[in-house]
Amino acid sequence: MAQKLWEKNVQVNADIDRFTVGKDREMDLYLAPYDILGSIAHITMLESIGLLTKNELDILTGELRNIYTIAEKGEFIIEDGIEDVHSQVELMLTRKLGDIGKKIHSGRSRNDQVLVDLKLFIRSEIKTLVELSDNLINALIRQSDTYKNILMPGYTHLQVAMPSSFGLWFGAYAESLVDDLTVMQAAYRICNRNPLGSAAGYGSSFPLNRTMTTRLLGFDSMDYNVVYAQMGRGKTERIVASAMGSIAATLSKLAFDACLFNSQNFGFIKLPDEYTTGSSIMPHKKNPDVFELTRAKCNKIQALPYQITLISNNLPSGYFRDLQIIKEVFLPAFDELKECLRMVTEMMSHMTVNTHILDDDKYKLIFSVEEVNRLTLSGVPFRDAYKQVGLSIEAGTFEPDKHVQHTHEGSIGNLCNDRISLLKQQVIDGFDFNKIETAEAALLGKS
Ligand code: ARG
Repeated sequence: MAQKLWEKNVQVNADIDRFTVGKDREMDLYLAPYDILGSIAHITMLESIGLLTKNELDILTGELRNIYTIAEKGEFIIEDGIEDVHSQVELMLTRKLGDIGKKIHSGRSRNDQVLVDLKLFIRSEIKTLVELSDNLINALIRQSDTYKNILMPGYTHLQVAMPSSFGLWFGAYAESLVDDLTVMQAAYRICNRNPLGSAAGYGSSFPLNRTMTTRLLGFDSMDYNVVYAQMGRGKTERIVASAMGSIAATLSKLAFDACLFNSQNFGFIKLPDEYTTGSSIMPHKKNPDVFELTRAKCNKIQALPYQITLISNNLPSGYFRDLQIIKEVFLPAFDELKECLRMVTEMMSHMTVNTHILDDDKYKLIFSVEEVNRLTLSGVPFRDAYKQVGLSIEAGTFEPDKHVQHTHEGSIGNLCNDRISLLKQQVIDGFDFNKIETAEAALLGKS
């Protein structure tokens, strides 16, 4: 077994090693490129305070950039017996460069190293989630515009209620996602602060320049208090997971609507045959499995903040190995949510709608309020009009005028999709992803 960064003359028991490492090496592969970026920023700062020479910095930076290229190609591995991503990168440096590689860890602990890796990983994943949400919002708005004049029943208590439209239905989920992005932006702001320099959680006697690493890594500011920086482990993940849960909740609700409206008993929407799955026994089946799986996966994502809470609950301040376990539930969740966003975008873009739902008499009562309003406009007091229409329904003589005229903002006749799109753009522009791209490109010598 290779020697650990912390091993002196006694080698750790193999069972203890297996248990303490667990799935961590697998999880750390998510963090590899970010560990390297963090190291480049750290050594640049170390040179500026005299802990590395310019020549050492250049050699180390060159090699770290080579390792980054390996990670970018998906070829970075953590070798057998190597504890984690941090140890693997240091091993690759020392193997290639000898003693210079051993200088990289001055003024740093794996505790602030994993913190910075997580934050860099999270903000990059948030950027992708925002792009994918943007695509879905655009697809929903397109469908809303396409079907803006097609009426469908609106429901309360799952009882037919009032006229609604596909324009409203598609657009509602677009607007919901815009709000989810606002929640995500709050999470992003909390995440995008630099923990590097907090070391094991109590700082360092080296005169570390944290303002410099904050700028080099494109963070908005730093987690100032070094104790708080370490306390951010678990908290950041929980807050980001809540924001992911917000998007997931929108997708679950949409998925359930889609399953319901696709059922023969509703027959409101249609999916292309190739987007449905079949049954091994019932030859007629065209099941909306993508929506069903989306619903379950997104419900699972909504459990994530609670899982993180339970893993890290009641920990006092300071680092504990418990925090490592959060990675197992948190890191793969991004892949799942990204996949759901992609699939739902695909499904929603190819959905067609039934344009004649309201021809069926079973929906005629949704026009009752329209009738009450028409009578009210002609001078009958609202309560009398309500009673008059109610009695005609009871007597079975109600015959609806199916002409619907809703003009106020956000209603059937005035969807406000342009304003929803504008709001979306304002929220997305507020993320300011350019800043992180520029900073990371500079660290990699790509600018
Ligand atoms: N794998 C560890 C984690 O995710 C890295 C930090 C190790 N620090 C320590 N003091 N053992 O938390």
